[in-house]
Amino acid sequence: MSDVRIDDLPVRDELRGKSPYGAPQLDVPVRLNTNENPYPLPEPLVERIAERVREAARDLNRYPDRDAVELRTQLAKYLTDTSGYQVGLANVWAANGSNEVIQQLLQTFGGPGRTAIGFEPSYSMHGLIARGTGTGWISGPRGDDFSIDLAAAEKAIAENRPDVVFVTTPNNPTGNAVPRETVLALYDAAQAAKPSMVVVDEAYIEFSHGDSLLPLLQGRPNLVISRTMSKAFGAAGLRLGYLAAHPAVVDAVQLVRLPYHLSAVTQATALAALEHTGTLLGYVEQLKAERDRLVTELRATGYEVVESDANFVQFGRFEDAHTAWRKILDHGVLVRDNGIPGWLRVSAGTPEENDAFLDAVRALKKEQSS
Ligand SMILES: Cc1ncc(COP(=O)(O)O)c(C=O)c1O
Repeated sequence: MSDVRIDDLPVRDELRGKSPYGAPQLDVPVRLNTNENPYPLPEPLVERIAERVREAARDLNRYPDRDAVELRTQLAKYLTDTSGYQVGLANVWAANGSNEVIQQLLQTFGGPGRTAIGFEPSYSMHGLIARGTGTGWISGPRGDDFSIDLAAAEKAIAENRPDVVFVTTPNNPTGNAVPRETVLALYDAAQAAKPSMVVVDEAYIEFSHGDSLLPLLQGRPNLVISRTMSKAFGAAGLRLGYLAAHPAVVDAVQLVRLPYHLSAVTQATALAALEHTGTLLGYVEQLKAERDRLVTELRATGYEVVESDANFVQFGRFEDAHTAWRKILDHGVLVRDNGIPGWLRVSAGTPEENDAFLDAVRALKKEQSS
């Protein structure tokens, strides 16, 4: 059997020769490569999850609430409380991670014969999910400083007339935020060109110095804000992402979502986590302080750093980023090589993890300058 490979199967042409997405899951003492929250869930929340899941377990003979009404109501409350912009149940949709939210959006607004654009380097799953949904992918430009060059981006939208425009802010892997005015201009450009859906991926917004772009939803039915509980809520293992948009967008994604896609266990767990929002956002403040410390210390050591509004920092420049990645790994610290020439990315960990990382990069600097 092992002599049969993917490409020997009658797979779709666009999947031939491709490899699956995935950061290395190496067993090393300090793992700072996937932008996870380093703090385990607090014990009272673990207890509450157990309680809620126990209750849900009694009904597991039944399908879960297909519309996840209680969960969406609580997510809407969280968004309203933290942004001051009023959203309700009808504006919010949830799925298994924001990756699934993005997949549902591309199934709804992309697909064969349609295209989506992102400004790269950015979150590579946007392009991969586009491919998986048969949506053509257009790699839009970014400037040398990794900001979105508005004139170049507007030109790319006007020329390509994409059906879906992705704007990731704060951007992954570079960490920088996209100014509100740029997002507004891109939205206008996308409407003039097609009109198209604009998906603002705010996976890291809780770590930002600035505010969520949620209020931009007012009067913009083709705008979607995508969010996740994987980062700020420290619940990457939960797999819970969500979007906020005009109710018509929420209705539209119903056309493609699988029935009962969010298990009763997932809904119960997410609801428990939302009861502990205050505590979890406290960790976010600690992580923001640690992120700022990483920026300061990296600069003091002589590295270049992209201004970060996220829970990670892109730093460089290296003649050979992959060799630098390996040397940092030799110190027991796993960071991320996203294949951007000259740059690596480190996620903010606990103070002890960050100290280990800083020791490793200081040693690397010393070695390089001797
Ligand atoms: C920009 C961005 N969007 C979405 C995601 C996916 O998050 P989730 O765990 O909610 O699928 C990530 C994960 O790293 C991300 O970096």
